[in-house]
Amino acid sequence: MSQSAEPGSASTVHLAGSDTTYSCAPGDTLLRAGLRAGLGLSYECNAGSCGTCKIDLVAGEVCDLWPEAPGIKLRDRERGRRLACQSVPLGDCTIKSRVAEVYVPVHRPQRQSVWLTGARDITHDMREFSLRALTPATFRAGQYAMLHLAGMPPRAYSMSNTANADGLWQFMVRRTPNGVVSNALFALPPGSALELDGPYGLAARGWPARHCLYSGRLWHCAHGRYPGRGGDA
Ligand SMILES: Cc1cc2nc3c(=O)[nH]c(=O)nc-3n(C[C@H](O)[C@H](O)[C@H](O)COP(=O)(O)OP(=O)(O)OC[C@H]3O[C@@H](n4cnc5c(N)ncnc54)[C@H](O)[C@@H]3O)c2cc1C
Ligand code: FES
Repeated sequence: MSQSAEPGSASTVHLAGSDTTYSCAPGDTLLRAGLRAGLGLSYECNAGSCGTCKIDLVAGEVCDLWPEAPGIKLRDRERGRRLACQSVPLGDCTIKSRVAEVYVPVHRPQRQSVWLTGARDITHDMREFSLRALTPATFRAGQYAMLHLAGMPPRAYSMSNTANADGLWQFMVRRTPNGVVSNALFALPPGSALELDGPYGLAARGWPARHCLYSGRLWHCAHGRYPGRGGDA
């Protein structure tokens, strides 16, 4: 069962062993707030699967958005470790995290409103979604964004177009049988508003724009390989 955060005011997160602190807005995760602040916190999937964002929670409390996330073992949790991508601070806290230049975002991720302007069937269960934002779409090939549909958990989707000044973000989405968010996306009427948070992921130099391939129940992307549903791959 997921706990629910009771967000009030922003929290201050201190990186243990350094003078670095950053602000985490109510409801934001330790990872995403750190990246928004321009820090190179280590991560890959942003979705609780890979374990790359594991941190030591030295002081303070967090709300764990997904206590059953496969990216961390119970033994690690018992030692005070958490997944930064699934942890929302419940107040000021101190964490020990791996920080590296390679993770410093080229374009700092931001959360913004977007509108569904087009949907085009590619196969019986794959659809290309076109979302329009009010600001230019700045990202690098190989990156992804988190899509937030009202009342649903966020899911990661890789951009299938290239950066542009028109604010156009496109995604190729496979409808996952019984999948919560992909089915809700397929049911969205044109003009619907949703939230897009990104870009995320390490953009690979020279990686082609249409970079993600779904095969063997895994997404093979510039930033790694991830299960297409339920960690069953
Ligand atoms: C970096 C990355 C890029 C991706 N790019 C694409 C893409 O371009 N196109 C595409 O179709 N799919 C992509 N995916 C997969 C996508 O994010 C979804 O997992 C997929 O659409 C199924 O979501 P669903 O809600 O329909 O299915 P569900 O079966 O409802 O959920 C599936 C996934 O949600 C996660 N999850 C389950 N429970 C929880 C919980 N309580 N809290 C948080 N997370 C939970 C798990 O990772 C699980 O695999 C990508 C995934 C990652 C990590
Ligand atoms: S980035 Fe947190 S588990 Fe992958």
